[in-house]
Amino acid sequence: MRIVVLVSGTGSNLQAVIDAVKTGELDVEIAAVGADREGTYGIERSSEAGLETFVVNFNSFPTRDEWDAALTARVASYAPDVVVSSGFMRIVSADFIEAFHGRYLNTHPALLPAFPGAHGVRDAMAYGVKVTGCTVHWADAGVDTGPVIAQEAVTVEESDSEETLHERIKVVERRLLVSTLAALAAAAPPA
Ligand code: GRF
Repeated sequence: MRIVVLVSGTGSNLQAVIDAVKTGELDVEIAAVGADREGTYGIERSSEAGLETFVVNFNSFPTRDEWDAALTARVASYAPDVVVSSGFMRIVSADFIEAFHGRYLNTHPALLPAFPGAHGVRDAMAYGVKVTGCTVHWADAGVDTGPVIAQEAVTVEESDSEETLHERIKVVERRLLVSTLAALAAAAPPA
């Protein structure tokens, strides 16, 4: 199973995938890692791991549509079986979703459909939930919508800040992403 991973930030979920591939726990080929902006640690750590990387910089395109078309073409050039949005903080178009229909996987630090959007951890805390968690799902054209593949709960502690809670969620999220990809790879028919 060939995957392309998209990141916007530090890429600790991505690192978990890289590590799991290295140890053999995860039998996938990371065809490339892409970002929507320059200077992300996600791209830096991918280069360090010897992976193919690319940037389709959102700010270098006059319109969102042009950026989206460039991203779609670049990702498609790697012929991935699955595209992983791993902390990729951009909404993609219906055309992108169509191009990778049913193959665009997203991770989110809340129990969807609760608390979608860029501040899932903050919003869950602000609501006062006692349990939140993370979700791995097939993404459609909405914001953090689409069929859920796997979820795991994380208890909110009285003493939690957004940062401490997000860190605990990310520990679970990394494991869930790797195990979900492993299950998909095991189910994928051989090329
Ligand atoms: C993850 O919690 C992801 O779900 C959210 O942002 C975080 C990204 O972390 N959208 P990292 O870049 O993988 O460290």
